[in-house]
Amino acid sequence: MKNNINLKEYNTFGIEVFAKEFYSINSALDAKTFFLQENFNDRELLIIGGGSNLLFTEDFNGAVVHNEIKGTSVESENENEVLLKVGAGENWHEFVLHCINEGYAGLENLSLIPGNVGASPMQNIGAYGVEVKDLITEVEAIRIRDAEIVTFSNPECEFDYRSSIFKTTCKNEYFITSVTFKLTKSPVFNISYGAIKSQLEHNNIDIQTVNIKDISDAVITIRQSKLPDPKEIGNSGSFFKNPIIDNDTFEKLKKTHKDMPAYKLPKGGYKLAAGWLIEKTGWKGYTEGNYGVHEKQALVLVNYGGATGLEIYDLSERVLLSVENKFGITLEREVNII
Ligand code: EPU
Repeated sequence: MKNNINLKEYNTFGIEVFAKEFYSINSALDAKTFFLQENFNDRELLIIGGGSNLLFTEDFNGAVVHNEIKGTSVESENENEVLLKVGAGENWHEFVLHCINEGYAGLENLSLIPGNVGASPMQNIGAYGVEVKDLITEVEAIRIRDAEIVTFSNPECEFDYRSSIFKTTCKNEYFITSVTFKLTKSPVFNISYGAIKSQLEHNNIDIQTVNIKDISDAVITIRQSKLPDPKEIGNSGSFFKNPIIDNDTFEKLKKTHKDMPAYKLPKGGYKLAAGWLIEKTGWKGYTEGNYGVHEKQALVLVNYGGATGLEIYDLSERVLLSVENKFGITLEREVNII
């Protein structure tokens, strides 16, 4: 345990705030012992992994617990499939690259997503037509109140768009120790997303002979062209979720905004592109002091260095109000505000 730790290195927004107490957890056993000993009735607890989905608006006056559980093991495998159990503190992109090297397919569309493995089920990370819920079989976690080990099957995780039980009914109740993924050795490629197809063509890749490395490379190029690298410019990926609206609202909006991108959902309704809505309200590329809205992707708020979390939060509030006034749609933040 350390006291008064600067959290700048522990959040991809690069916000400078201090934690009163800071603990590092290196194994599931470590976690069990820790939660048996400590109780958090008297102070606040914040579990962090890669810090890629957080906006700190003030110093944290409680205990930050940093998940550093490493290790990847093959639980079982046959000719076609492999089950991999991965420590929650492993870096997500390094894990994806490891799978690509081993020839395990399924995660290639999720290349270069910032953060750690433990956060992937929390918010059901997704990109380019794939969500991690399609590949997770189990999540192992420690229940904080009694330090019991609990295993969640895929349905028990209650996955939804950028959501799971760990963000909703069981928020702050579990410390995720490992995630198990089912990957395939004979890949089914998901290249339905237009940008991937065009990038593969641009890289002179024949769709008939495409492999998982080609797809990962294409995704990396697309992400690098649109999204700022948190090592260079502080950010937390998409700041807002893409809003889901009902059919009537969609029909009304479509009349006045003919070029509005929208994805029809299988269960009814439409998902809109929050980035497009924000761009249309004029915020794209907006800069104030040392923070702003990214110039290439309006869904991403950025800290050019030295901004406070409150400044960024205030900007997000103004963006939200503009979208509400122009389109009558209330955006929801994807990032956790602390
Ligand atoms: N668009 C604009 N202006 C912008 C940004 C986007 O008009 O400034 C339009 C695009 O032209 C496109 C549509 O909006 O027609 C969708 O844009 P994009 O393909 O860039 O994806 P997104 O909906 O903005 C989502 C995820 C990303 C994920 C990408 C790719 C959410 C909240 N975000 O973004 O995930 O990488 O799709 O699949 O669902 C994240 O969650 O942090 C994240 C980066």
